Amino acid sequence: MSAEAAGDYDVVILGGGSGGYACALRSAQLGLKVALVEKSKLGGTCLHRGCIPTKALLHAAEVADVAREGSRFGVRTTFESVDMAAVHSYKDGVVSRLHKGLQGLVKSAQVDYVEGTGALDGPHTVVVGERRLTGKNVVLATGSYAKSLPGLEIDGRIMTSDQALTLDHVPARVVVLGGGVIGVEFASVFNSFGAEVTIVEALPHLVPAEEEVISKQLERSFRKRKIAFKTGARFAGATQADDVVTVSLESGETLTADLLLVAVGRGPVTEGLGYEAAGITVDRGFVPTNERLQTNVPGVYAVGDIVPGLQLAHRGFAQGIFVAEEIAGLSPAPIKETGIPRVTYCDPEVASVGLTEAQARESFGDEVETYEYNLGGNGKSQILGTQGFIKLVRRKDGPVVGVHMIGARVGEQIGEAQLIVNWEAHPDEVAGLVHAHPTQNEALGEAHLALAGKPLHAHA
Ligand code: NAI
Repeated sequence: MSAEAAGDYDVVILGGGSGGYACALRSAQLGLKVALVEKSKLGGTCLHRGCIPTKALLHAAEVADVAREGSRFGVRTTFESVDMAAVHSYKDGVVSRLHKGLQGLVKSAQVDYVEGTGALDGPHTVVVGERRLTGKNVVLATGSYAKSLPGLEIDGRIMTSDQALTLDHVPARVVVLGGGVIGVEFASVFNSFGAEVTIVEALPHLVPAEEEVISKQLERSFRKRKIAFKTGARFAGATQADDVVTVSLESGETLTADLLLVAVGRGPVTEGLGYEAAGITVDRGFVPTNERLQTNVPGVYAVGDIVPGLQLAHRGFAQGIFVAEEIAGLSPAPIKETGIPRVTYCDPEVASVGLTEAQARESFGDEVETYEYNLGGNGKSQILGTQGFIKLVRRKDGPVVGVHMIGARVGEQIGEAQLIVNWEAHPDEVAGLVHAHPTQNEALGEAHLALAGKPLHAHA
């Protein structure tokens, strides 16, 4: 009898995205017998339709801007045009190299990789076509999809990031519905590629989940880049004809464009997969878990975008690893959601970890101090010609609980920021560490020097 028929897997994982494959690789490292079921491509949204291809587009966008702006630095360059076919071949090359590498990793880890659409048949069995994979433990990792709004059909000129990623031309005019992470990243790309962009956001600010001063700085930068946006604007409807899409707002205003990008959030993929029939609680499509990522059914775990909270690939990786270690009996420490770093890769970049000032005040009342360090005092940021700042939030006489940054390339500084917050460092401890000059990273050091009461290139 084959292993599958005997049903003797330690772990059966449904979904091969960031959460699922991380769980498979870590489980295999720990000597567990693993099956990983994936209906489309190993790597999931992050690798094929999310993080990786979009960041490749953002890099191409940066190259276009550099070509346009050479004269700012005394170099005569001209921007000619964007060849979308060539952009896609660069982007697809990146994705395909990573995809091959990942396939190799899963193969050499001796994970049983099963291609096909799986569904639960009872809490411990995943059915894929004719095969029944039974595990002592089952991990649900089926990810998310790009949502739309009621009555707004994704078709033709009305698209989500899935279709926008494969556009064969640069549209002349784009309306982006939703000024969250996907909205501002695509707005940034389209603008750099030469399109006229308008963002429509229902809440009062772009990237509304971020610290308000960061949102305001992003808005200033977008204004400078001539990216239009309407905040506090409610979408009423959209219609399309052969050559135009017309977007109407509740205010009565209409916007016409070649393309409407819908970026109003991502929903969990949990329907029709037998979760509820297997007794698993599903709440508004999401699978709630406890802090050990267990669902209400013993031996069934959930990881990644189907678990309420931040929908980020690195959260999925961490949760997948956590569940593998939990199953192997290593009792890992629970993952703190507020310690997960967040980076938005528009230009300028936004990066944050920990609590906003408002969240800190909710927890600690008046016992909160903040400091804003302007990148105007940072040599490397001046060399790059970027504007922005770092805002620190600390408990009075206590550790730093939040770091919020905006400026070109600040995403690369999130590593130190997350160590500071997660290791609960005090400003004077960070101030005591020497930061290399001239780097943008130095701005983090200087912000902590200032918060520790000994500013160098800044006012107290
Ligand atoms: P989001 O939740 O970040 O933003 C959606 C935005 O649409 C919100 O600001 C919301 O107020 C707005 N909105 C919703 N309904 C609206 C309406 N009727 N009219 C106008 N505005 C409306 O979701 P998004 O940007 O689609 O991203 C989905 C997920 O993917 C997020 O959780 C995000 O964190 C993740 N992601 C992360 C990236 C990164 O880490 N760099 C990149 C891309 C996505």
